[in-house]
Amino acid sequence: MPTTPQTPCSSSAKPIQVKDLTFVPYVSESELLEAIDRIAQQINTEYQGKEVLFVGVLNGVFMFSSDLLKRIDLNCQINFVKLSSYDGTQSTEKVKQLFGLSESVEGKHVILIEDIVDTGITIEGLYNDLMKQNPASLEICTLLFKPDKYTKIVPIRYVAKSVANEFVVGYGLDYDGYGRNFPMIYQLQS
Ligand code: IMP
Ligand code: MG
Repeated sequence: MPTTPQTPCSSSAKPIQVKDLTFVPYVSESELLEAIDRIAQQINTEYQGKEVLFVGVLNGVFMFSSDLLKRIDLNCQINFVKLSSYDGTQSTEKVKQLFGLSESVEGKHVILIEDIVDTGITIEGLYNDLMKQNPASLEICTLLFKPDKYTKIVPIRYVAKSVANEFVVGYGLDYDGYGRNFPMIYQLQS
């Protein structure tokens, strides 16, 4: 049981309370699923006839990876790594690898999947590590992208939705570990 009070999970578009902060509705569930449909179709087309290994970055990606993979009709596998760079609502600039992949990605078509690319520190670190193993190809797919905060040059090939430079929760994304269970995205109330 969470020790912190939280409003019940609901798809109605009302503000929510996560720990000490209030968040307001930002991207609805139907808008998210439409955007996911679009990038899944793009991936299905671009990787037609190829086998793909999806690598999801936990914890935030659990909902997105599930809805994305249900729409993929390629011969594919999924694996997960666990990284962490955020502390509360701030990026710490230090990426901790909490667990990694047990097998090499050499010769494989790999698509990294993230919940959100913000500064890009997390995904760049992982991208560079995997590149050293000589995959057949390596691309990045993210549910949300904050273009105004991105500081890296690694290309983000598949973006379901670009968002403003605001802290968001829901649909897998958290504030201090809470708020991942909401089916849509909420933005910090200004
Ligand atoms: P980056 O390394 O700065 O790109 O941050 C990426 C990671 O920080 C993401 O995988 C998220 O887990 C977390 N993160 C970044 N922005 C947000 C946000 O607005 N809400 C919740 N988590 C975030
Ligand atoms: Mg993440």
